[in-house]
Amino acid sequence: MPVFKHPEYPEETLVQLESLVPCRESQVSTLLSIFGERHHFSFPSLFIYGHTSSGKTYVMQTLLKTLKLPHVFVNCIECFTSRLLLEEILQQLQHLSTKEEDPPLVSCDTFNDFIRLFKQTTMIPDLQNQTIYVILDNAEQLRKFEANILPGFLRLQELTDRNVTVVLLSEIVWELLRPNTGCLEPSPLYFPDYSIGHLQKILSHDHPPEYSFDFYAAYINILLGVFYPVCRDLKELRHLAALNFSKYCEPVVQGEANERDTRRLWKNIESHLKKAMQTVYLREISSSQWERLQQDDGEPGHLKGLSAHAHVELPYYSRFLLIAAYLASYNPARTDKRFFVKHHGKIRKMNFQKKHEKTTNHLLGPKPFPLDRMLAILYSIVDSRVAPTANIFSQITSLVTLQLLTLVGHDDQLNGPRYKCNVSLDFIRAISRTVNFDIIKYLYDFL
Ligand SMILES: Nc1ncnc2c1ncn2[C@@H]1O[C@H](COP(=O)(O)OP(=O)(O)O)[C@@H](O)[C@H]1O
Ligand SMILES: [Mg+2]
Repeated sequence: MPVFKHPEYPEETLVQLESLVPCRESQVSTLLSIFGERHHFSFPSLFIYGHTSSGKTYVMQTLLKTLKLPHVFVNCIECFTSRLLLEEILQQLQHLSTKEEDPPLVSCDTFNDFIRLFKQTTMIPDLQNQTIYVILDNAEQLRKFEANILPGFLRLQELTDRNVTVVLLSEIVWELLRPNTGCLEPSPLYFPDYSIGHLQKILSHDHPPEYSFDFYAAYINILLGVFYPVCRDLKELRHLAALNFSKYCEPVVQGEANERDTRRLWKNIESHLKKAMQTVYLREISSSQWERLQQDDGEPGHLKGLSAHAHVELPYYSRFLLIAAYLASYNPARTDKRFFVKHHGKIRKMNFQKKHEKTTNHLLGPKPFPLDRMLAILYSIVDSRVAPTANIFSQITSLVTLQLLTLVGHDDQLNGPRYKCNVSLDFIRAISRTVNFDIIKYLYDFL
């Protein structure tokens, strides 16, 4: 029983369409009934909205291509000014009407020009007796355009006096996009997020021909088990599925397990996928690096510990400030001379041997230090001299706001503020690595 029925299109086209848009059947059949027959006038404008990767672009493109409807598809991110947008639409329209590969360039400055040129270009009967669809993808960008553009597009049918329907694809709801001067309201259509079952179905679809459908579906099931709690983006999941599939097949290829040994295959892949989640998904390493690691069978273990800090982006000097603060918090003040004075003369080694202290400073936790000490350390660890400008002080304030530093006992007017550094050793090592500073060499505990 075919899902889609429409007097206008041959049945095999509709069956083909159905196979191309799994899990979006209800939206597509709504669209089919809105579009009606080719020569019918449809709604002046539609507003399709839903989260990213809910298939808006894909479904719309597939629908228009499969049914061979005359359309213009523009991305409002690519065409970031109204001029680029209007010219691109006219360009594609010309292509539709003349079928020439390289139609002459059009120049269009204002929306009035656009209407005039639009009418001119769609003069030919082939375009007059059927609906033309103008799709504006990423329509939320239209908010940045001149105020007349969006209301203009919504009334394009009336202004051009042509059989045209404008479809806006957007990730935000209409209420946020609606101009406050009022306009013709588009007809809304919602694309809900895919459920885990939907994702399973869509992803299982692209199984490689050399493996059975069930084998691939079992793999997708495991993949979703690991990644679904953190990621629902179809594009991302599809990429991860392709990236890790060879690892899943390994036991089968090597003849250690057969395709139905699900338990065994699961054991083999699960820890691997969890590692992939820590590194590839968070973009700590690129996919190609990940593939290389897989080939060398190397453990991405040395990358461990980075993941927790990947989200902290600090300005260059702030990183040094934080490093200085860490050193001040964990090194005893008496050792500063040893570490940070470049020519400290001869200090007898004897003096500097570590006494057999039972506890290390790292076990005791961070100690408060005065601002001056931190600045002194900072000057010695950054290569070029920095003046204590307002900029540095404001960066210190930012570090306090981010709770990487804490201000302790500020009411002591005589001594000035004292700080404490709150970050862990792993964290500061990750930060140091980004500025090529070997912090371990400067820590008394690791001497
Ligand atoms: N129903 C579906 N069947 C197959 N692939 C789909 C489906 N929906 C989305 N996709 C794929 O998911 C990806 C993201 O879809 P896209 O249309 O770009 O999302 P959106 O435009 O809503 O952000 C695309 O690569 C597309 O091919
Ligand atoms: Mg899209």
